[in-house]
Amino acid sequence: MNTQKPTRNLALELVRVTEAAALAAGRFMGRGQKEAADKAAVDAMRLVLNSIDMDAVVVIGEGEKDEAPMLFNGEVVGTGKPPLVDLAVDPIDGTRPLANGFLNSIATVSIAPRGTMFNPGPFVYMDKIAVGPLAAGKIDIEAPLEDNLKVIADSEGKHIKDVTVIILQRPRHEDLIARVRQIGARIRLIPDGDVAGALMTCLPESGIDALLGIGGTPEGVLAACALRAMGGEIQGKIYIRHEKEKKLGLEMGMNLDQVITMDDLVSSEDVFFAATGITDGELLSGVRYTGQGAETHSLVIRGKTGTVRWIDGKHNFDKLNPISEIEY
Ligand code: FBP
Repeated sequence: MNTQKPTRNLALELVRVTEAAALAAGRFMGRGQKEAADKAAVDAMRLVLNSIDMDAVVVIGEGEKDEAPMLFNGEVVGTGKPPLVDLAVDPIDGTRPLANGFLNSIATVSIAPRGTMFNPGPFVYMDKIAVGPLAAGKIDIEAPLEDNLKVIADSEGKHIKDVTVIILQRPRHEDLIARVRQIGARIRLIPDGDVAGALMTCLPESGIDALLGIGGTPEGVLAACALRAMGGEIQGKIYIRHEKEKKLGLEMGMNLDQVITMDDLVSSEDVFFAATGITDGELLSGVRYTGQGAETHSLVIRGKTGTVRWIDGKHNFDKLNPISEIEY
């Protein structure tokens, strides 16, 4: 018998980080102010991150793509006490939907032991394929699309016509969409938010079997942390936007043709992931303001144990505002 005592679940502390970001950003729903919303989420995240006993280096600090306010890559957060960890954040995955009041914007954070997260260097996009536990270990991003869809269908005991693939609705995906249609699988197009899209492959009730297409590299690392914990799989390939990016990547010694495996994206099982809904979505409900406070809906995942928790938070602003640096 193994007699290990239960150890700290950092994800239960991280959920306060994503809740704070969602509560701060939720105020901006539909207000058309992407930057201000991002700043509110980043400030709230940083404040709570710095209260957690950890020595965390930001490896994935979202924001470079659109020069939004961000937690900077290399920034150190936490109290400075052990454990030594890498940190990936996306204070708002779905700034556009939030600014417009559309669905599916979330706040998300992940932690893994120091040195285990992928550094995407200058590359802001990667091609991705993500699947749930049944098809994990069987996909190959370099194989023909038809082979991957067949493997997914077979491993789930379905016909290809029953398989549902989630794809970001972008002009760059016209060819991919046409090919999936030709092969005969079903498509769910999403306007934004491929972290949630990837996660849904591990939740059978979502009806999503795979995520395909080019999205953000930060989102790829965050999704990898969650999928690793839930037994799914994500693979990627660097997507090069221009020569300058390519030159920088080569100077860093990166192999630009390499298949980026889930192990490359996060090499440890000891990962912690948390996400909170900002606007309503398929994965998480958004923030509800009640007059006296607000309600939040979050997902908390721990890699070592595979425990997945859904957490409903009820926040009391009369009590919080007098003691908080952030006005809720
Ligand atoms: P942000 O809100 O953080 O900008 O990301 C939204 C998102 O839809 C991601 O989920 C996705 O990975 C990325 O944008 C795709 O980038 P683009 O919108 O440039 O195609």
